[in-house]
This record gives sequence, C-alpha cells and structure tokens, in this order.
Amino acid sequence: MSADVSEHEDDTGSENVPRRRVMAWLVGIINAGVIGAVVAPTIGFAIGPLLEKKPRAQWLEILDEGELKNGETRSVVYEAEVQDGYMLSKQRGSVYLHRDGTQVEAFDPTCPHLGCHVQWQPARNEYVCPCHGGVFDAEGNRVSGPPPRGLSRIATRVENGKIWIHKV
Ligand code: FES
Repeated sequence: MSADVSEHEDDTGSENVPRRRVMAWLVGIINAGVIGAVVAPTIGFAIGPLLEKKPRAQWLEILDEGELKNGETRSVVYEAEVQDGYMLSKQRGSVYLHRDGTQVEAFDPTCPHLGCHVQWQPARNEYVCPCHGGVFDAEGNRVSGPPPRGLSRIATRVENGKIWIHKV
C-alpha cells in the first residue's frame, strides 16, 4: 500500500511540474500584458504633448481697417493662443500699428535694450522707452540711447477690411 501511495505521489508530482511551469509562464505573460496595457497609455498620455509639434506662429485679426486713419499710429491689444506645457492658454500682447496710405506697419513695443514697453509720443513723432531713454523714429529705427537696434517689425496684411498681424 505504501508503495502505491509513493508511486502515486511520484506520478502526480512529475506530471505537475510541467503544468506548474506552464501555468507560471501563462501567469507571467498575462501579468506582462496587463502591466503593458496600463503603463503604455499612461506613458503616451504623459509625454505625448511634449512630442507634438507646437504651432509657433499664427495670423491674428486685430483691428478693422477703418479704425486706423492714414498717418495714425496706435497701440492695439490682442490675444494669442499659447501652448503652455500641456495647456493651451490665451496671452495678451500689444503692437503699434501705423498706417501710411494703403500700407499698414506693425512694431513690437518691446524695447530691444532690456525689454521695457516703449511709448509712442505723437508730439515728437517718436517712440520713447521710459526705462533708459531709448528713442526710435516713426519707422522703428533706433535714434539714440542704449538700445542696440530698432524695434522689431511684425508682418501685417489687410484682407476683407481687417488688419492681421503675424505673431511668432
Ligand atoms: Fe529701453 Fe533700456 S529698456 S532703453
């Protein structure tokens, strides 16, 4: 009787070893699949926005053509969409628009010296920087003071009665 039992245990044990190995492999494969199914989308969600190409420039409609008289220079506030990490947000900015006949020019009001906001002074027909006295003519060219160059120009277009700027 004891010989039967030991034979039976041996048989059962030797049959179970391959089964246990197969089960262990199956459990391992299933676990890997489940982990992959959870981790891969999470990684894709986390780094996806970083891999996306962000729009770097956009045309913005900022003013009705009729609101800018010939010879006038005025500051116009606009809102642009900005990719901020994972968020798309709105950011306010301003430009100086100047009309000369059918031509519309736009200047970035950021002083190229240390970034202060220049002010248009119609009585002087010049832009003046309040921080260190930089002066620019009506075309944005540097006249005097510490700025190393003139104001940056921004591309414009007039279409269907609207003035657009190309914001980079
Ligand atoms: Fe404009 Fe210095 S920041 S002159």
